[in-house]
Amino acid sequence: MQRIIIVSNRLPVTIKENKEEYTIQASAGGLATGLKSFHKNGNSTWIGWSGIISNDKKEQNKISNLLEKENCSPIFLDKNLIKKYYDGYSNGTLWPLFHYFTEFTEFKNSYWESYYEVNKIFTETIISQAQKNDTVWIHDYQLMLVPNMLREKRPDLKIGFFLHIPFPSYEVFRILPKRNDIIKGLLGCDLIGFHTYDYARHFISSVKRLLGYDVEFNTISTESRKVYVDVFPMGIDYKKFNDTSLKVSHKSVRERSEIQQQIDKFFMQDPERKLMLSIDRLDYTKGIPQRLKAFRFFIKNHPEYKEKVSLIMLTVPSRVDVEQYQNLKKEVDELVGQINGEFGTISWNPIIYFYRSLPFDNLIELYSSSDIALLTPLRDGMNLVAKEFIASKINKKGVLILSEMAGASKELGQATTVNPYSLRSVSNAIVKALNMDEQKQEEDIITMQDRISRYDVFRWANDFVSALNIIAKKQEEHLAGKINDVTKQELIANYKKSSKSILFLDYDGTLQRFFKVPQNAKPDEELLDLLKKLNEPENTEIVIISGRDKQTLGDWLGNQGYTLIAEHGAWIKPRNENWIEKAHSNTDWKKNIKPILESYVDRTPGSLIEDKTHSLTWHYRKADIELGNLRARELRTDVANLIANQKLEILEGSKVIEIKVSGINKGYAALEYLKNNSYDFILAIGDDWTDEYTFKELPNDSITIKVGTDKSHAKYYINDYIQVRELLKNLTL
Ligand code: UDP
Ligand code: G6P
Repeated sequence: MQRIIIVSNRLPVTIKENKEEYTIQASAGGLATGLKSFHKNGNSTWIGWSGIISNDKKEQNKISNLLEKENCSPIFLDKNLIKKYYDGYSNGTLWPLFHYFTEFTEFKNSYWESYYEVNKIFTETIISQAQKNDTVWIHDYQLMLVPNMLREKRPDLKIGFFLHIPFPSYEVFRILPKRNDIIKGLLGCDLIGFHTYDYARHFISSVKRLLGYDVEFNTISTESRKVYVDVFPMGIDYKKFNDTSLKVSHKSVRERSEIQQQIDKFFMQDPERKLMLSIDRLDYTKGIPQRLKAFRFFIKNHPEYKEKVSLIMLTVPSRVDVEQYQNLKKEVDELVGQINGEFGTISWNPIIYFYRSLPFDNLIELYSSSDIALLTPLRDGMNLVAKEFIASKINKKGVLILSEMAGASKELGQATTVNPYSLRSVSNAIVKALNMDEQKQEEDIITMQDRISRYDVFRWANDFVSALNIIAKKQEEHLAGKINDVTKQELIANYKKSSKSILFLDYDGTLQRFFKVPQNAKPDEELLDLLKKLNEPENTEIVIISGRDKQTLGDWLGNQGYTLIAEHGAWIKPRNENWIEKAHSNTDWKKNIKPILESYVDRTPGSLIEDKTHSLTWHYRKADIELGNLRARELRTDVANLIANQKLEILEGSKVIEIKVSGINKGYAALEYLKNNSYDFILAIGDDWTDEYTFKELPNDSITIKVGTDKSHAKYYINDYIQVRELLKNLTL
């Protein structure tokens, strides 16, 4: 069975200390409660923080031994790190920002530094435990730098990441000063999973806008690798909830827990009474004050329900050292007091309030005894409580009122959804739920149970891991085509022993990085020096083969002993000779096409036109990436209609659309050039679609290398222009 290393900030169990005695308690929160069933059943180790702040080695050993039995491996963090990494960057910066609470978001450099440091500690612990080719599954916002830190040191590992909270819209995410570091951290993965399509979409949009990477469907092409993004809505251990609920329902009166007995008493006072339930960590994202206010609104506006309905509210203490949570506690305490004070009677408490966590069986008792679950988070990645409530309803009676801001609302279509900010909407939903007939309740519960029993936490985890395995295979295949040390040595040896060599080198994206303004891509000293050295041997010819105009190419690289091919082959400047025009055609067509391109420039800020002798080019690298891609598609269609009967064609390069005289391309140009001489070593390197012509046309024994990760006719792949330069440098040694 495949071994999996699960990594999250919090372990599924938390250590509690009482007079130097340590006990183990189940951790609260969806990540831990959901994933622990998968961990228990499978072949996995779980690395995470023990919940204890300790520097003492003896103490740490004791804790490690205790946790070993649970297949858990603890990380120890000191007080300062917990304050800045956990309370600080994780829960004072990322948590509020990702839940759209920008007003609560704190930006402090010291928080970031500790976040970085702790992510490093986690990475090193993983490295010390991971065997070759192991699968590492990292979870949640506290550890977003780990994937890339791990990738750099252990490229053999399969790395997956799952985000349990929302990924915010780019407009919010961009506020984060370290946004690029976070995205780059995550892109160390093979697969990144989200609960909903919206979160995945927001993430992809941030990747495109911040790093300019191309994304096709769910695949991000970074310089060196592909990273896959997909949606896996987390499930629960359905059977466990359903079975326990059945077990609890069979308990005799005497066996019943204290809580259950109190609930029984509540109903005995009046069999018509209804119980509404909410369970959450005490967190401002859960909308607890808003819920209380909505309940107050409901009672005020529907006095007929006085003494008939109570809201039982279980709030679990959470992140108690963070100021916002302390303020929230005060606010909730006060509101509960006010509402009970205003409406309560000797025999009726409108709100029954617990501030603690409860053992599993008690949770089930609450779920199965309540008529309505009132879950109204202002933002929630998923909300597993909603699914647990449904799973516990063995008698199929009950109504789920669920905020439309919770990820779970995307799946639980039969829930009564509400806008948690609207008191009236919540109050109306309560009235609707109280009056829903039993048949409708049953139908809805059955439909929802059907879904969550099929896509339970095991399916969820297995789906994720299977997808990760498939992707890892694809990555391996891609890696097999990469220039590695062996192929590199062979290539150098063949070059050294050849009697006549020719190197076809594309310019932008191959020898030089991309610039937002194309004219800024002028060769730097390092490149000029490299080309000069490469050109020194008598028996080596260098051909710069580019789509650039002849003027620029000539200015940058002319008269230095290289052959230049400009405008994809429309012009050629053999070494030490003048330019020769290879395409003879009139350019009247430009009069019609240029105004169209100009209208696209007007409507697409950042884009520009390049007018070359035999072509017109529209560049959009500097434009907003999504708008640019959209306009590029429109432009293609507009122009295609116009040039239908002319000898023109559209060429799509990297963030450029080029309209040019047909019959000219880099492939023909290279072949034609080869006619003049014979070579026993031919090398071609290029990065975009236009270089595919070269790769296709060259003789079979040529060495062709594609820069980047896109599908190609080339024999080999290389990461980026930096590696190209390195490779070429090796030829000069
Ligand atoms: N929970 C718990 N003990 C309690 C109350 C709740 O372990 O006393 C669990 C609950 O069963 C659920 C989790 O905490 O599995 C809360 O997960 P959810 O996704 O609803 O919200 P999160 O806390 O992750 O934001
Ligand atoms: C949410 C987060 C988890 C976290 C849990 C409890 O579910 O997504 O990563 O573990 O809350 O919060 P805590 O800070 O106590 O771990």
